[in-house]
Amino acid sequence: MKLKNIVLGTVCALAMMSGSSFAADLTVGFSQIGSESGWRAAETSVTKLEAKKRGIDLKIADAQQKQENQIKAIRSFIAQGVGAIFVAPVVATGWDDVLKEAKDAKIPVVLLDRTIDSKDDSLYLTAVTSDTVYEGRVAGEWLAKTVGDKPCNIVELQGTVGSSPAINRKKGFDEAIAKHPNLKITRSQTGDFTRAKGKEVMESFIKAENGGKSICAVYAHNDDMQIGAIQALKEAGLKPGKDILMVSIDAVPDLFKAMANGEANATVELTPNMAGPAFDAVIAYKKDGKMPPKWIQTESKVYLPDTAAKEYEARKDLGY
Ligand code: AHR
Repeated sequence: MKLKNIVLGTVCALAMMSGSSFAADLTVGFSQIGSESGWRAAETSVTKLEAKKRGIDLKIADAQQKQENQIKAIRSFIAQGVGAIFVAPVVATGWDDVLKEAKDAKIPVVLLDRTIDSKDDSLYLTAVTSDTVYEGRVAGEWLAKTVGDKPCNIVELQGTVGSSPAINRKKGFDEAIAKHPNLKITRSQTGDFTRAKGKEVMESFIKAENGGKSICAVYAHNDDMQIGAIQALKEAGLKPGKDILMVSIDAVPDLFKAMANGEANATVELTPNMAGPAFDAVIAYKKDGKMPPKWIQTESKVYLPDTAAKEYEARKDLGY
């Protein structure tokens, strides 16, 4: 039995060593969107950590929210002859030409955290994302359950126009509340996934909605916009989390802090570790020719105030 364990352990260690020595020769170019949110900053840090763990040479290009910069970065990665390209696509459309160039150069592309609108799924190796429609749906279902039969006017802070999470989180939420005619979205506008824009848009909603008095709930497509909305509501003399229900997506530490302080009611977690599974898929593909599934789905989980203080403590030093 002991000998069997030793042999097994040695085989595993050798397999890991050959995986990591393979990874040490690998260069990955990552076209990141920018740093619009705490979640995005966390994804960038985690990607660096996961690359370091595997000895991968990672080159990051910050696109400052512009698709044209992402396209330029991908072309530059192709010219440099990197081993793989990761891209977090700022919007869903307009990728076919540049991804075809990567495909012609035989460089596998992995989509991270957002998907693209293309008829040709051979343009990328795999997409590592959560189910963003589901995230919107659970947010809507949580709200419907919490509100019960009372009438409820909802204001919605949407993510970046044309981005897959903004499209899908709206879709999922709309589907969930469609079953509850007492729930109505009265205002819906983009806050571009940022705190500053979330606050600005929320201020305009408050003005338009009777000083905020006719608002029953705020649904934000990410936590950063929700934190901006909380600030706007407090400055208007309202009590977010008490007078107004607050539900959003990401589960960043600041939102747990807001929940622990009674200023938010629910968040749906989006893991910032998209890169770990992406690196593993690329290594298995390049080393052993193993094709990953087209979609590597990450988990989404609802968090409520009862565990917020504990979750905040566990996450506050993660640096995002
Ligand atoms: O694509 C994921 C979304 O993009 C996150 O929810 C948001 O915070 C980010 O900027």
